[in-house]
Order: sequence, then structure tokens, then C-alpha cells
Amino acid sequence: MDFRLTEEHLMIRDAAREFARQDCLPGVIERDEHQRFAYEQIMKLGTLGFMGMMTDPAYGGSGLDTISYVLAMEEISKIDSSVSVCMSVNNSLVNWGLEAYGTEEQKMRFLEPLARGQQDGRLYIGAFLLSEPEAGSDASAQRTTAIDMGDHYLLNGTKNWITNGSSASVYLVMAQTDSGKGSRGINVLIVEKDSPGITVGVKENKMGIRGSDTHSISFQDVRVPKSHRIGEDGFGFNFAMKTLAGGRIGIAAQALGIAGGAYELCLAYAKERKAFGKSIAEHQAVQFKLADMATRIEASRLLCLKAAWEKDHQMDYSTSSSMAKVFASETAMWVTTEAVQIHGGYGYVKEYHVERLMRDAKITQIYEGTSEIQRLVIGRSILK
Ligand code: CAA
Repeated sequence: MDFRLTEEHLMIRDAAREFARQDCLPGVIERDEHQRFAYEQIMKLGTLGFMGMMTDPAYGGSGLDTISYVLAMEEISKIDSSVSVCMSVNNSLVNWGLEAYGTEEQKMRFLEPLARGQQDGRLYIGAFLLSEPEAGSDASAQRTTAIDMGDHYLLNGTKNWITNGSSASVYLVMAQTDSGKGSRGINVLIVEKDSPGITVGVKENKMGIRGSDTHSISFQDVRVPKSHRIGEDGFGFNFAMKTLAGGRIGIAAQALGIAGGAYELCLAYAKERKAFGKSIAEHQAVQFKLADMATRIEASRLLCLKAAWEKDHQMDYSTSSSMAKVFASETAMWVTTEAVQIHGGYGYVKEYHVERLMRDAKITQIYEGTSEIQRLVIGRSILK
């Protein structure tokens, strides 16, 4: 076993770190405050090759491994998780599924610009439309319908909490075609956002990741060609579960980065801030918190890298990705809460960043499967 990263991994990590510090840090507080989507930063992610990190270069991607993706997600999430969630959804939930299960025609038409994150000098990204007002954790309870009309599907219904909702050009939509078949009656369709009958709802006013573009999306009699279905008839739920297993590695890495960002701020602050005649880092009460932070972050990193390694080695990674996500997201919540505590009053104001990281941490326990769902997935796996 070799825990060292390769030269290539280190280069990717450094490139992501530089991007985060130079391009994401300036304006991050204002973007959060005004819920502003980081258009320029996401465009630059495309130029850097980070919007299709694991996609085959034949389809416009960078052809890197999942370890590289974890390293990049971690670094960017230390600074701005509104940027990294956009990158994560595009890479894991959209590009990966299209590459693994799409037809050649679908890949050439949609995956190529998605992996570049751009088309004709404009942003070109994707969104994953599974959640509904009454189908969150119980994802198979789909009410959106895709009625088979022969050469096309007729799509009706509403999706909720859609990351990249208004900025995406392409939606991957899960919808029920045959309710008699339950989860085996669900299809996944590639839907272009400018198709007639689509309404993008107002942007959600969120606690955290406020710069990310979260909307509800409604479909009214939207015609989707049959050629836009991914996989066989009824493959949609399976597709969603398989893509989410990889997506959870991305969100675990995001949580790892949020925790790491807060920890780095604490280390610097604790060395500088004086109380009772010495730096607060010299007080054991603070030192023990820093030690626990470092330990939990390291454990989260190892879980993320193991899940990524399993994915890169074509092993079953669904249990390890759930383990990484539940552990890293709970670590992020704990570390950021303690980070605010270490900063005291300064931690409670925006200029010191840790309050934003604490708000951003919370969503990692919710999206792409709540902590309860991760435990359910792990429980089923260890008891089978
Ligand atoms: N891979 C492949 N197939 C799978 C699978 C997996 N990991 N897990 C389940 N399946 C299959 C089962 O084999 C079964 O297939 P058959 O009918 O052929 O036997 C079928 O799916 C149904 O499985 P279950 O009976 O286990 O389904 P369930 O309803 O009991 O529970 C669940 C499944 C794990 C709870 C699932 O509903 C789930 O993961 N829920 C959470 C949903 C979620 O993560 N949503 C996130 C929204 S997306 C998002 O947040 C993106 C964003 O914008 C950031």
C-alpha cells in the first residue's frame, strides 16, 4: 500500500488550490450574500478541464482518475462550495452517467460540450433532476411522468432543489413511464432546457451554498425524442442509483474541503490570537480541538480516497462512497461549528469566512442522499 500521491495528482491539487485562491476567494463573501452564481469562475473551470475531469478526452474530457477529482473538489471547497457543487454535479451526476450509459450519438452531441463546460464561448453545463416535492429520500416515488407516445415521450411534472437549475443547458430527468412497474418503470431522459413547456421556478433562498443555482423546474407537455432516453426502457432508477454512488464521492470530497478550509483558518487564527498572555493555540482547550479536527479530517480524506480508488479499479464502491459521505459531512459540520467557537465573536461575522463554511457544511448532510439514507445503504450492505 502506498499513501503517496503521484506527481500528476500533486499538480492537479496545486492547480485547483491556485484556482480557488486566485479566482474564487475574491468576492466569495459578496456572492454568498447576494446569491450570485459564479459564472466567470465556472467558465474558467471549463477552461482548466475541471468540468469533465474523468471524461474520456475523445468526448472533450480530461481523462483523469477519481482520485484527481477528489483532490480538486477538496481544494475548491475549502474556499467556495457554491462553485464546487456545480462542478460535482456536472462531473459525477451528468457526465459520468452519459459516458457510461449513453449512445455514441448522445455522447457526441451532449457529453462533448458538457465535459468542456462551454459551447461557442458560453457556459454549457448539466443538471440532474431526480428530487420532487414528494420524492426526496424515497426517490422511486416519482410523480413526474414520461408517457410513451411512440416516437417521443410527453413529460409532465415538477422537480425540486435542482442544482444548476437555471444555468444548465441540459437536464437529465428521471420520470415514471409505467407506474405499474414501480422503480422499474422509471426512465431517464436528456432534455434540453430551451424545449417548449419548461418553466424554471424562482431561485431558492438558501442557508448555505447561496451562490449555487438551485431552482424547481416544471414540465408541461414537453416532447422528448425517444433517442434522448438513456439506456433500456425502465433503466432510469438504476441509472440514478449508479450515478449517485459516484456523486457521493464528490460530495464527500466537498465536505472534506469545507472541513479543511475551516481547520486551516483556525490554525492561523489560533497562532495569532492572544489570550491570558499567550496564543490561544497554546491553551490546551484549543489545542485539543485542533487535534480532533486534524484527526477527523484525515479519516475523512482516507475514506474519500478509498472510495475513489475503488471506483478507479472498477470495484463496487457504493458502500464506501456512502461511508465517505456520511463521515466527511458529519466531520464538516462538527469542524465548522468548532471553528466558529475557536474564532469567538469574530467567527460569527462574515469577514472571517468560518460562519459561511458552517452554513455550507449543512447541505452536505442532506443532498445526494441524507445521512440517514447513507446509513440505510451501509446497513443494507453489511447485513446482506
Ligand atoms: N445501484 C444500482 N441499482 C440499485 C442501487 C444501486 N446503488 N440501489 C438500488 N438499486 C436498485 C435495486 O436493485 C432495485 O432494483 P430491482 O427492482 O431491479 O430489484 C431498485 O433499485 C429498487 O431498489 P430498492 O428496493 O432498494 O429501493 P428503495 O426505494 O428501497 O430505496 C434508496 C433506495 C437507497 C433509499 C434510494 O431511494 C435513495 O438513494 N434515496 C436517496 C435519493 C437521493 O440520494 N437523492 C439525491 C437527489 S440528487 C441531488 O441531491 C443532486 C444535487 O443537485 C446536488
